[in-house]
Amino acid sequence: MKPSKTAAAAAFIRTLFPEFPFRTALILGSGLGSVAGVLEKSRETDVSDIPGWPAPSVSGHRGKLIRGYIGNAPVTVLQGRIHFYEGHPLQTVIFPVAVLADLGVGTIILTNAAGGISPDLEPGDIMMVSDHLNLLMTNPLIGPNDDAAGPRFPDMSEPYDPELRRLAEDAAPGAGIVLKEGVLAATTGPSYETAAEVKMIGKLGGDAVCMSTVPEVIAAVHRGMRVLAFSCITNKATGLHNTRLSHADVKESAARIQTRFTPFMKSVIEKIDRTIT
Ligand code: HPA
Repeated sequence: MKPSKTAAAAAFIRTLFPEFPFRTALILGSGLGSVAGVLEKSRETDVSDIPGWPAPSVSGHRGKLIRGYIGNAPVTVLQGRIHFYEGHPLQTVIFPVAVLADLGVGTIILTNAAGGISPDLEPGDIMMVSDHLNLLMTNPLIGPNDDAAGPRFPDMSEPYDPELRRLAEDAAPGAGIVLKEGVLAATTGPSYETAAEVKMIGKLGGDAVCMSTVPEVIAAVHRGMRVLAFSCITNKATGLHNTRLSHADVKESAARIQTRFTPFMKSVIEKIDRTIT
């Protein structure tokens, strides 16, 4: 990732929103876009207007950067992320995270739709990510290291911030959520897993599987950000149910989860903001 490219994007965003304190960001996954609707005093820009921002390959999928407030908490929301399966290099997939870091964002929450593997996970559940399996078999930090951004060999012993996880656990009952917790595996997609692959991922310790998030988490940890991630379990993974998977069903299921997920995110962000001085 060329620092100048992300710095130019960050500078552009700062000119759009000069007074805004960039400190907490939320990246929304498939079908979870409506979380942005709870922002007050919000203003937004199409990401296509931001210099250097990678163009999404999926037509009709306009990405937005929205900034606003939840109570007193300033939040930057990204709707529409960039996926590895679109054909972008991983360095491009993490561009938004690098720009957020350049803007001064120190805490990032990532969300996604995922298939449940653990018997404990049912469609409709929200799983807080405790750790991950990077099954993309490549890494977004491959290439020259930007020493100003972070170390060559970043530690990954606690990618998901324990203090933030505790805050989320505290917020869950008040938002009517029975919060599950588990290990998220990421594959490249775009094909869903085979039943044999799901069996393998389960044996390796994966509780849920998705096609995003993990590269962004690696980039965020590299840049010293505090990370929290949630998987909305839209389906049981292949072989654990007797229907075929479709993106339309995944999106519909995510849309149903949103009604509970949105107030939960609101409460988590308010709690997080109180930890930032
Ligand atoms: N596998 C991978 N990604 C997903 C799934 C799945 O079963 N459901 C939603 N996103």
